[in-house]
Amino acid sequence: MVEVRFLIVYSKLTRMKSKAHLASHPLHPILVSFPIAFFTGAFVFDLFGVISNRPALSLVAYYLDIAGIIGALAAAVPGAIDYFMTIPPESSAKKRGTQHAIINLVNLGIFTYVWFYRRDASANPYLILGLEAIGVILLSIAGWMGGTLVHRNQIGIDHRYANAAKWNQEYINTEDKKIKVARVGEIKINAMKLMHINGKRIVIGNTEKGHVAFSDHCSHKGASLADGSMICGTVQCPWHGSQFDTNSGEVKAGPAKEKIDTYTLEESNGNIYLLL
Ligand code: FES
Repeated sequence: MVEVRFLIVYSKLTRMKSKAHLASHPLHPILVSFPIAFFTGAFVFDLFGVISNRPALSLVAYYLDIAGIIGALAAAVPGAIDYFMTIPPESSAKKRGTQHAIINLVNLGIFTYVWFYRRDASANPYLILGLEAIGVILLSIAGWMGGTLVHRNQIGIDHRYANAAKWNQEYINTEDKKIKVARVGEIKINAMKLMHINGKRIVIGNTEKGHVAFSDHCSHKGASLADGSMICGTVQCPWHGSQFDTNSGEVKAGPAKEKIDTYTLEESNGNIYLLL
């Protein structure tokens, strides 16, 4: 029997994998289908109601407005979780996610106002139609941005790599300058572990020549390098393919132009320590 687990958890396995998902399927892209369909349907029914002078069509639109508002609120919850917990900070995707959220909130406000306004029997159908048309345009823009977040920025994608160990992440808050980040043998060759140390994100990788530590923040547009791939001492960014030397941080291939920060590690007593 297939076990289906409903997970809204802080995933320990991947970085840009959705934190609000159903068996690795992100919930936000699933739920947004409802407000998109209902709000667009409300506009279409109101349009035909006005053209054909059939109030019954506008009544359908009224209920579609309500369904769209409920659907939008439901979709907003996993969307907010992924906005705060999945999208890398200080990245182009964070900016895009902020714009996406603002446009959707404005759109929700428009349709909520339309629903409230149209309950008055003397409501102007052309005003309703005009507002809904603006809402549908905003919905399309927000949907386009959402598509970019998923298909280009890979937000919510559950990456799997052949032969690669599942990397994990760990949170540490400390005043120490020498911090234990892994045990020797814990990280497989070409695998990475993402450390959050006092809010700073540092990747610990294991290369054929030993362990390395470098910034998780791609110097191009801020992708999480821990969610990229690493081989032969080179880490490749998952967004636009920039490559960095994991020892020196130098750019090996663009579009990034600036090197990334690297850090010193020390091995002793079977442990790996990061020196800050
Ligand atoms: S964010 Fe563009 S290459 Fe990394």
